[in-house]
Amino acid sequence: MNIIITGASKGIGYDTALKLAENPENKILALSRNEQKVKELAVESDQIEYLVFDITSPDIDALLQKVEAMGGVDILLNNAGLLINKPFRQLTMSDWQRSFGTNILGVIGLIRTLLPYLEKSSNAHIINIGSMGGFQGSSKFPGLSAYSASKAAVANLTECLAEELKDQKIAVNCLAFGAVQTEMLETAFPGYQASLSSEKMAEWVAWFCLNGHQFFNGKILPVSVSTP
Ligand SMILES: NC(=O)c1ccc[n+]([C@@H]2O[C@H](COP(=O)([O-])OP(=O)(O)OC[C@H]3O[C@@H](n4cnc5c(N)ncnc54)[C@H](OP(=O)(O)O)[C@@H]3O)[C@@H](O)[C@H]2O)c1
Repeated sequence: MNIIITGASKGIGYDTALKLAENPENKILALSRNEQKVKELAVESDQIEYLVFDITSPDIDALLQKVEAMGGVDILLNNAGLLINKPFRQLTMSDWQRSFGTNILGVIGLIRTLLPYLEKSSNAHIINIGSMGGFQGSSKFPGLSAYSASKAAVANLTECLAEELKDQKIAVNCLAFGAVQTEMLETAFPGYQASLSSEKMAEWVAWFCLNGHQFFNGKILPVSVSTP
């Protein structure tokens, strides 16, 4: 499979890229803004290529060059995310724009760009990483309104796209994560210890990327063993 992963410089994206690279038949294109980190990731496996890429101001030409060189795209893992932890009264419009710019508009932009390639795949799967904070009826936490609302948009987009793209055999699913021990969690809940490590979550995500479309389409799946 040819797989694109956003937010591959650390946390769940980094570990999922490594997990997917264990199968010699997978080729992975790892995207992030942090050149040093994605370069380090690519050193870990010959199957991992990297591109310095900001999903809020994407260099489409550079991306398409990499995609052509890879020979197309089967799987798009929209994993990059931004969490701003501030009470609603302190959130600025710029905070809202950054949150929605990264968490939903960045996802939309990448899907738009890569649809012509995904249409050509017989195993096309778009996986959008959501959050339990954006899952209807879940417990909510103070300070996370911009983040959670943007992740709720990711969940809804998933349902809409699955319907629109089903005739082209492109599956679209959303994994709504609960707490996973990463830098992001440490920012949101300082001192909190999640029972799931990033490496463990990456095992599930890697499996789901490759196989989930055979079982699910247009689903928002809570992947959580705790609250948060
Ligand atoms: N950890 C949790 O408990 C938890 C819970 C629910 C949902 N999630 C979701 O899971 C996903 C992965 O989270 P994580 O915990 O692994 O977070 P993380 O360790 O903070 O990593 C976030 C990744 O997103 C990338 N990113 C952020 N803004 C970007 C941009 N504009 N362009 C390109 N890449 C960007 C970062 O790369 P650069 O900074 O190098 O660009 C980084 O690789 C996120 O979508 C997050 O919202 C996590």
